[in-house]
Amino acid sequence: MEISVRLTETPKRKPADESTLGFGKHFTDHMFIMEYESGKGWLNPRIEPYHRLALDPASSVLHYAQEIFEGLKAYRRQDESIVMFRPQDNCKRLNASAERMCMPQVDVEFNVEAMRRLVEIEKDWVPRLDGTSLYLRPTMIANDEALGVHAASNYIYYIICSPSGAYYPTGLAPIKIKVEDRYVRAVRGGTGFAKTGGNYASSIRAGADASAEGFAQVLWLDGQEMKYVQEVGAMNMMFLLDDALVTAPLDGSILPGITRDSILTLAREEGLDVQERRLAVDELMEAAANGRLKEAFGTGTAAVVSPVGQLSYRGEMLTVGDGGIGALTQRFYDELTGIQRGRLPDAHGWITPVCRG
Ligand code: PLP
Ligand code: COI
Repeated sequence: MEISVRLTETPKRKPADESTLGFGKHFTDHMFIMEYESGKGWLNPRIEPYHRLALDPASSVLHYAQEIFEGLKAYRRQDESIVMFRPQDNCKRLNASAERMCMPQVDVEFNVEAMRRLVEIEKDWVPRLDGTSLYLRPTMIANDEALGVHAASNYIYYIICSPSGAYYPTGLAPIKIKVEDRYVRAVRGGTGFAKTGGNYASSIRAGADASAEGFAQVLWLDGQEMKYVQEVGAMNMMFLLDDALVTAPLDGSILPGITRDSILTLAREEGLDVQERRLAVDELMEAAANGRLKEAFGTGTAAVVSPVGQLSYRGEMLTVGDGGIGALTQRFYDELTGIQRGRLPDAHGWITPVCRG
């Protein structure tokens, strides 16, 4: 499929100060978009000026949330060249989410090329400052103009870009997390592994309550017994318990994070004892209380590698390690961002070049 391009005649002013970008607040001049009609497939792929979507008030996505999205980043390197990190994996995960949500597949190579072309056009929007990048948000929505509850016949797929800095306003400073003991995020047979808006919508109540109590995020427990630690709102979680790096297994209820996979790969190569296993919250809190929980950090595209300094469960607040950024957390942050920014070699084929910049 040929991607047609129409450039804007009224480019926006770019944010002047890269140190105050925040996350997902600014959007670039162009977007990729195409439509799907059942029986015809994907139609009219194009890059055009960023614009609002006109949806019928009956559009299916607005009522039944048949929606999926992705998140990945493009980075500017020291030599000005621009690269993306593991875009094929995001495209594959988009298709896994699409399958779960009964939505159409998008060819992986075509999708990566659409991203590459869009980022190339938006290359002047890719920031330079350490810790910044161009965040890409591929999104698919169902768009039938009818109220029956079933898979739609019409879809829109689009990609927007946002020059972004740190996800948490506190930057790399350790965050405070509350183990959620009232609400759950995912249940067996549900949509936990899919990147679909409903998972996030249903997390907002817990997140708002936790935020009012001064926490950055909630740590979800499993939906069956509320006993095992899963992930937090926008990151997978890893714990250095004694000398083992422990993280929840991919059991269908957590998002199979691409950052998670990258860190586990690096950890295994370094000879760390990596354990993908169920971790009971009682074991975690006991380990924190008796000093065996040395480090805890979250991993995610937006959040990168984020240290957790304090954990609270049922009103009891415990400090992780000495409450600061652990040595392993810092090393993984440096290694991952080093590979992304070209300071370290890409030994795993994770980097997709976009343009020379
Ligand atoms: N878990 C959830 C719920 C997320 O939203 C994200 C962010 O994408 C992650 C984990 C981390 O996934 P990734 O590393 O692929 O960004
Ligand atoms: C990402 O890290 O790309 C995400 O999608 C997290 C987002 C929910 C803010």
